[in-house]
Amino acid sequence: MSSLVPIRFQAFDVDAMAQAEGRVVVIMTPEAKMGPAVRRANRLTRGAVARLIESDRFEKVKAGDVVSLAWPSGMAAEALDILILDRRPDPAEARKAGAKLAKLADNQPVLVMAGNQAKTEDLAMGLALRSYDFDAHKSKEADQPAGFTISHQKADEVEAAFAPLYAVADGVRMTRDLTNEPANVLTTTEFADRLDEMKELGLEVEVLEEDKLAELGMRTLLSVGQGSVSPSKVVVMQWNGGDKDDAPLALVGKGVVFDTGGISLKPAGGMEDMTMDMGGAGVVAGTMRALAKRKAKANVVGLVGLVENMPSGNATRPGDVVKSMKGDTVEIINTDAEGRLVLCDVMWYAQERFQPVGMIDLATLTGAIIIGLGHENAGVFSNNDTFCNAFLKAAGAEDEGAWRMPLGEAYDKQLKSRIADMKNVGGRPAGSITAAQFLQRFVKEETPWIHLDIAGVASVSSETSYAPKGATGWGVRALSRFVQDNFE
Ligand code: BES
Ligand code: MN
Ligand code: ZN
Repeated sequence: MSSLVPIRFQAFDVDAMAQAEGRVVVIMTPEAKMGPAVRRANRLTRGAVARLIESDRFEKVKAGDVVSLAWPSGMAAEALDILILDRRPDPAEARKAGAKLAKLADNQPVLVMAGNQAKTEDLAMGLALRSYDFDAHKSKEADQPAGFTISHQKADEVEAAFAPLYAVADGVRMTRDLTNEPANVLTTTEFADRLDEMKELGLEVEVLEEDKLAELGMRTLLSVGQGSVSPSKVVVMQWNGGDKDDAPLALVGKGVVFDTGGISLKPAGGMEDMTMDMGGAGVVAGTMRALAKRKAKANVVGLVGLVENMPSGNATRPGDVVKSMKGDTVEIINTDAEGRLVLCDVMWYAQERFQPVGMIDLATLTGAIIIGLGHENAGVFSNNDTFCNAFLKAAGAEDEGAWRMPLGEAYDKQLKSRIADMKNVGGRPAGSITAAQFLQRFVKEETPWIHLDIAGVASVSSETSYAPKGATGWGVRALSRFVQDNFE
């Protein structure tokens, strides 16, 4: 498992700049206003910063850019990084700037001379998010990052403002680790064990095993896992930081640790990507971790359905009819449309047991959402405008792409089955919407509900502003903020 990069705060002191090793960062506005750290850097380098400002090159420089001077004379550091940033940047600008610095750091110690820069806690969040590297399976021991020292005039205040953000960054880190982990390592049992460890943080964690799931009637969930040697499990994580009498918010995650498609086998090309098909469960886990670590004053319950979708002699066949926990029967036309079969039972259980004030499910549910929205936005489906808009606002504030999609009676008709209450697929048109319609059949009228199809955003093949390629941890920040803004 990875760990978060160390980030320390200390009182602002320009005298530390000359001797600091590794990299030294100073911050300058696009209008080239020199603060004390920039002035000192300029003096130490005998005017190199002033020459930059006067150069033609500087006219092209804009907020968010970093100009690096290598092996600056007069300094022990191997680079002086001049970060161009407004005095009062947006949080997202500050985070992106931090992420850029993190990428440059390359495990060296970095001294960030932040002066009295606003949003330094967000800059630090960018450092924490982008310093991630999944090297658990590289046999050559990788260098550990030396970390960042942030020198600020109000170091204590910035450190306090950063503490809850660092907790969220640790949730994001956990989600990324789980999502990046290969399926031979992250079996359903290993996944449940890693969630169980979060008891240390004050979460209540229960692992429901197959016999219990059978007793509860979670047959559609069990039908997905029955071809695998890994036992199916449901894990329930409760964070009770709010009033005892308040009903919780429920988060439900699809945790298919590997999706071969089952008997409706997927083609070989790209099948290895299906190690990330537990991404929804990963986000639920990371969010619960974030809430516990920042001691959120709210009641939230996270439930994940952990299964492996494998073909075998006792795997579910296309054409099988299975009865859900709710009691509705499903004709399984395509065993590769398995996520909805897992979620429908866990969602029903969540509502029956907790009567939540709202329910949000997350799933790498459909390839179709990638065709529709690419890797920039998750698909958002909801039965409640107020609930949905509050989530979209939180996602926007966290710079996590989320775009609302429609639901409707006409789409629901595509799920009609000749022999059962519904089919598990609705044909090619509007594949992401019919998947959401399937789920909505398991949402009670009175439950405000959001379905997040994260197939396009959970793991990506090129780096994003905040993450290297691979798992992004999309959703942990949005959900943590959604809880904070609406339930604390
Ligand atoms: N896990 C996949 C969806 C997916 C695809 C996630 C690509 C991430 C990247 C899901 O279980 C699936 O196989 N969906 C099918 C549904 C179809 C059979 C109706 C799909 O999208 O093709
Ligand atoms: Mn599938
Ligand atoms: Zn799947």
